[in-house]
Amino acid sequence: MIQDQYKNFAERYDRMKQENPARKEFFRQLFTFHNVATLLDCACGTGRDLLMFRSMGLEVFGSDLSDSMLACAQQNIGESDIPLRKVNYCDLSDNYNEQFDAVVCLSNSINEPLEDADTLRALRSMKSALRPGGILVFDQGQTDLSIQNPPSFAPILNNRDFTRFFTMEFSGDVQTVNIFDFIHTADTSDFQHFSVKIRIRLFDSWCQLLRKAGFDDVEIFGDWDSTPYDKKSSSRLIAVARK
Ligand SMILES: C[S@@+](CC[C@H](N)C(=O)[O-])C[C@H]1O[C@@H](n2cnc3c(N)ncnc32)[C@H](O)[C@@H]1O
Repeated sequence: MIQDQYKNFAERYDRMKQENPARKEFFRQLFTFHNVATLLDCACGTGRDLLMFRSMGLEVFGSDLSDSMLACAQQNIGESDIPLRKVNYCDLSDNYNEQFDAVVCLSNSINEPLEDADTLRALRSMKSALRPGGILVFDQGQTDLSIQNPPSFAPILNNRDFTRFFTMEFSGDVQTVNIFDFIHTADTSDFQHFSVKIRIRLFDSWCQLLRKAGFDDVEIFGDWDSTPYDKKSSSRLIAVARK
């Protein structure tokens, strides 16, 4: 049985949640352009994006591998009738009969399989869940530029009662991200640690894998403002692959 690696982190995950109007506008324009009406977020986590996509008028479905993240998603979506399922995104067609207009896999979720064979299986699975002409969207925060001098420390939050920072180390192209949380209220002081390993692929490698997975029509953006990806200057990698 696969362990729920987010078990000890899910409840604190949403501390990272931040509204990003540019990101929302990116999806709104993209979905209008590609006639997207139905969407599967296949690594929906705590569901932060499900409600955003629903607010755009889409019919939305959410799935994730982690029971604890799905439990938080269920809480976050409340009474809304967005269907949630526990599904490995490598096996989407075993679990969904629908073919969606869009499948999304956001915020470095696509980086969690460490082996090429598993990522390829994931991309093929996502493709199988799309209707002809449908789009797969995934994004990562690491780029050809940022990887040249990768930061090893990032302060993320520093509130009155909660402090979070990341440390990041590379071993080859696998990055270990350590998340350190300090809870410091009048009556409690506590410390929690969560760690995840992610495989970082850059522009050329993603284009190659997407082609191998059968996506011939691929566009890579360099940020939520829809600028095309530039190896020398982009601070985000957003892939849009059309079936
Ligand atoms: C960093 S979180 C991102 C969650 C969400 N997309 C967001 O933007 O907040 C990564 C998520 O990917 C999920 N995940 C990782 N591997 C998966 C897989 N093989 N199938 C489905 N979900 C997976 C994890 O359980 C986790 O919820």
